[in-house]
Amino acid sequence: MNIDIRQATAKDLADITSLFRDTVSTINTKHYNAKQITVWASGSDETETWLERISDLYFIVAEIDAVIVGFAYLKKGYYLDGLFVHKDYQRQGIASSLLRTIESQVIAEEFPEIRSDVSKTALPFFENKYYDIVKKQKKSFKGLVFENYIVKKIL
Ligand SMILES: CC(C)(COP(=O)(O)OP(=O)(O)OC[C@H]1O[C@@H](n2cnc3c(N)ncnc32)[C@H](O)[C@@H]1OP(=O)(O)O)[C@@H](O)C(=O)NCCC(=O)NCCS
Repeated sequence: MNIDIRQATAKDLADITSLFRDTVSTINTKHYNAKQITVWASGSDETETWLERISDLYFIVAEIDAVIVGFAYLKKGYYLDGLFVHKDYQRQGIASSLLRTIESQVIAEEFPEIRSDVSKTALPFFENKYYDIVKKQKKSFKGLVFENYIVKKIL
């Protein structure tokens, strides 16, 4: 199975936002309640924000046979702001592949470390990639509190 990584374009918008909505609405339900999932998934409707992320940030997608199966994007050159894998393609090495490309980009830009705020769902993945927990935090988002973790890795 070949995983291809490329930079996202505005044409990928619909695939990216539906993948985001579907993954949050299925995979993240193990760790967040129904209210939190509804609010989080509704972020898929913020078309302008997604278009800005695609055009302004380092934003990559993973494809298998030309189907988008994951995406990731970096803010400020060293902050991983999003990493999502298609609900039907979990545990197939797609996030590993995306993270390798993201970390290479951070190194290429000569930042000494990468950081992220990661969900409870994603924590085991980042621990598997040797990220350290900086702290567990409660983050307010649209009037709800989400527990997540700040993680980092020296590159
Ligand atoms: C977290 C996420 C991105 C991982 O994507 P993935 O493509 O399934 O991850 P990989 O297949 O590359 O996993 C690599 C290794 O990480 C570890 N890992 C990944 N998911 C794990 C899980 N749910 N539980 C335990 N270990 C896990 C495993 O060691 C895995 O290797 P293995 O499958 O050979 O055991 C994916 O589950 C996801 O999209 N989650 C929902 C969205 C989310 O919370 N994103 C983070 C936003 S902050």
